Amino acid sequence: MQPLVVDLGDRAYPIHVGSDLIGRSDLYAPHLAGLQVLVVTDATVADLHLDRVRRALGNREVASVVLAGGEADKTLDAVSRIVDVLVERRFNRSAAVVALGGGVVGDVAGFAAAVYQRGIRYIQVPTTLLAQVDSSVGGKTGVNHPRGKNLVGAFHQPVCVIADTGALATLSERELRAGLAEVIKYGVLWDAEFFDWIEANLDGLLARDEGLLARSVRRSCEIKAEVVSQDEREAGVRARLNLGHTFGHAIEAGMEYGHWLHGEAVAAGTCMAADLAARMNWISAADADRVQGLIRRAGLPDRGPAALSPDDFLRLMARDKKAVDGGIRLVLPRAIGDTVLTGDFDPRALAGTLEACRADIEPPFFD
Ligand code: GLY
Repeated sequence: MQPLVVDLGDRAYPIHVGSDLIGRSDLYAPHLAGLQVLVVTDATVADLHLDRVRRALGNREVASVVLAGGEADKTLDAVSRIVDVLVERRFNRSAAVVALGGGVVGDVAGFAAAVYQRGIRYIQVPTTLLAQVDSSVGGKTGVNHPRGKNLVGAFHQPVCVIADTGALATLSERELRAGLAEVIKYGVLWDAEFFDWIEANLDGLLARDEGLLARSVRRSCEIKAEVVSQDEREAGVRARLNLGHTFGHAIEAGMEYGHWLHGEAVAAGTCMAADLAARMNWISAADADRVQGLIRRAGLPDRGPAALSPDDFLRLMARDKKAVDGGIRLVLPRAIGDTVLTGDFDPRALAGTLEACRADIEPPFFD
């Protein structure tokens, strides 16, 4: 199948989506300028896929770094461990990094590639649904700060994305559902027909029908590629991709990184955004119910944790990168399939949402 393309002029790159792609040397070779390659991965993914990547890289000089994985490892310390290996192995500016794993591996490895010798190339090989539909595309790299999510980072586009949908067969149930949160997010923020399609096919997606998963990855990546091609640095339309993220990042930081998965926090945040939009009559109560109902059917949380008070939420949300001069800005739906980034919302309605959309819940959120 033809790859999708993120159209950024002379930095345009392909996104390959399909089965059995991880071991295809022909997908890596055109994007490697030199013979030195560092594969960054985590222990679980290394056991499953590292040998195939090594074989695909042929007789190049291949080193690897195995991170602990998980949001708690998304730190400057992890970046430093990668850079240490690049320096020890005397990798030069024609070297490449391959980020093999989920969103944390991709963000950390991408950031190491962005800063090593002022930037070397990297290939994203996402192995989780969340990384395949979102974080591997678009060049956002970076790490968390104890006080806020993704506060340290750089825009650095990969030279290629290889999304092997066969890798999703071994994903944990919790990771699969967390990835579906980002898929649902695309339907709500951009494409009402895609939202309908997810509603109709959710059972098959949860049953890991590979054809359906591949369609969901491809459509999500099409949307992401279109948005990033228009607005690489998030000066405008790209902010819409952050639907649910201001609430979600507050949950992730407030509950200590890794306790809630990113996708779980985005699911709750998307429901909170729908609740707020419904309170202001921007969307109908019926549409808010549809969004929240689909998220519940996916076994994802439809509200935030009671452990965070409304004041906790406001304090954490004010640290969001979209905030301007301390004023919170939110991505809110105007309809299913249409969203807007705005600071112009009713603060009393937000207070109502923060009070109502909290519950005594703990991950995992499904039986
Ligand atoms: N995950 C949102 C973005 O890449 O812009």
